Amino acid sequence: MSAFKELVFSGVQPTGNLHLGNYLGAIKRFVEMQARDAQCLYCVVDMHAITLWQDPAALKGQIREVTAAFLAAGIDPKRSIVFNQSQVPQHAELAWIFNCVARLGWLNRMTQFKDKAGKDRENASVGLYAYPVLMAADILAYRATHVPVGEDQKQHLELTRDIAQKFNNDFSDSIAAHGHDAGDGFFPVTEPLIGGPAARVMSLRDGTKKMSKSDASDNSRINLTDDADAIAAKVRKAKTDPDALPSEVAGLSGRPEADNLVGIFAALKDVSREDVLRDYGGAQFSAFKGALVELAVETLAPLGAEMKRLVADPAEIDAVLADGAERAEAIAAPTLDAVKDIVGFVRRTRLHAVR
Ligand code: TRP
Repeated sequence: MSAFKELVFSGVQPTGNLHLGNYLGAIKRFVEMQARDAQCLYCVVDMHAITLWQDPAALKGQIREVTAAFLAAGIDPKRSIVFNQSQVPQHAELAWIFNCVARLGWLNRMTQFKDKAGKDRENASVGLYAYPVLMAADILAYRATHVPVGEDQKQHLELTRDIAQKFNNDFSDSIAAHGHDAGDGFFPVTEPLIGGPAARVMSLRDGTKKMSKSDASDNSRINLTDDADAIAAKVRKAKTDPDALPSEVAGLSGRPEADNLVGIFAALKDVSREDVLRDYGGAQFSAFKGALVELAVETLAPLGAEMKRLVADPAEIDAVLADGAERAEAIAAPTLDAVKDIVGFVRRTRLHAVR
């Protein structure tokens, strides 16, 4: 095993335009986690993406684009392990075993499935229903201890903990018989890491709705590939209210658009909302937006340009993904060997000596 104290795992779906919410809520935090005493694994979860139909010709591009965003944002592919899920077969293998550990009743409570399946639940894919089980497999194939995610993934992480605990319980004798830790069990209970000033980035047109790639209005979001002019125009058009900025955080309550813009500013600048209001309390939005445009362009325009450069040369990205997949598999394969022993499968023995 690695010499690091912690193992960090997180994933991003390659389902289309990446935006500021993906950056501040996830990717920027992944970069920061590299400073910990941790092996970090960052996975482009293409198998999760196809739980809703994806155009095959577009999907490859989307996988490479998320990878490019990781690299452009500062994830170091030597220090961290960057890969796409479908290249490491242990995710699917462990997901099947977990399908037999998780209970229907648990999955029936998942709010994301209800949201995504909508009214026509009979017509949702089985994969969409089992989505959280695959997510548990992603995390536990590496026995990850820390998982940075957005607020909306909290329920899925609780399910991951339930699956780990039930596996540890159901197989406790076999776990001990195979020489694994009988006290703590085989799978760790994973810590969710949720938070930061922009754990939830909201739409620029409606501060009560999440910033989303599927919003009909492109002005509702800042895409990571938007250029400086587009970023500036969207910030300037962002919805606000008529009052000046408050000088205390409490003054943001009931003002969702103001709260969102202050939160975005704070996250981009790595400071707290308090710090932002210390500088801008009493200012009009026109002045604050000017400062926000400058800050957003300074951070995001180079990131978008680097993404475009990387996407133009898929060979470089594909080499990063191949290297990441090999290193990921080196961690996941021993976990799967142990899991197969624990559940009682007969594993393949070598028929021929390795030369
Ligand atoms: N479900 C997560 C999302 O949509 C993506 C994801 C898949 C993930 N597997 C994961 C996140 C494992 C953290 C850990 O945001």
